[in-house]
Amino acid sequence: MQPLLAIWNSTIFQKWVMAVTGIVLVGFLAGHLSGNLLIFLGPDHMNAYGVELRELLHGSVIWVTRIGLLLAFVLHVRAGIVLAARNRKSTGVSNSKVTNKTSTIASRTMVYSGLLILFYVIYHLAHFTWGLAHTEYYSYVDSLGRHDVYRMVVESFRNPVIVATYSLAMIVTGLHLNHAISSAFQTLGINNRRINGLIRSAGPIVGIALVLGFLSVPLSVVFGLVK
Ligand code: HEM
Repeated sequence: MQPLLAIWNSTIFQKWVMAVTGIVLVGFLAGHLSGNLLIFLGPDHMNAYGVELRELLHGSVIWVTRIGLLLAFVLHVRAGIVLAARNRKSTGVSNSKVTNKTSTIASRTMVYSGLLILFYVIYHLAHFTWGLAHTEYYSYVDSLGRHDVYRMVVESFRNPVIVATYSLAMIVTGLHLNHAISSAFQTLGINNRRINGLIRSAGPIVGIALVLGFLSVPLSVVFGLVK
């Protein structure tokens, strides 16, 4: 048992945990974004998708996904906090104070952007999934008796405070992903001279694509493209 615990607690293993769970979470974000973009096809598509997600294989798919996601999220946050604390101990300064020419704002603030994303996710679940925040937007039902996810999202983004909160959260998520994706490839030893350029730019490209995709929903409501 002791050797297994030592491997689990080793810095290199925790870096792997961070990279693998991070890739799982990015996969979730890509899937979530494709669901969100259904808003551009209208209420029927979006609300039908919400019902399908909940009822797939008698509701088992969504619960297995939720449990996997929660596990990935908890392991990812824990590894991030453990690694940041070790880094601080070994350098004697916090990550945010390490300044060298090659570090970017994103790389120096990963633990803080990560914690902001954690707060955002709790708020976001309370808003759209649990109906505990902004309850006035949660209880819409469409003409077929389905939870009106479309109306909930559109009415929410008519509120400028909610738009500002989501936009800020998306920018922070983008900064986090910008550094995280290339860093995960590095940890997993995925580097090959021929594709190194591609690996280095994967973080910014995927990060920017996801952020612009997510931002397109509140901004389309603000500019009246989605009503
Ligand atoms: C503008 C951006 C976003 C919009 C409009 C949005 C919208 C939604 C909606 C409508 C739901 C509830 C779906 C339903 O109950 O049918 C949901 C669930 C969720 N969202 Fe988002 N989302 C956004 C960004 C994000 C981001 C960036 C993350 C993660 C960092 C995230 C994580 C989640 C999670 C974990 C759930 C719960 C899934 C479940 O039911 O198990 N969302 N989102």
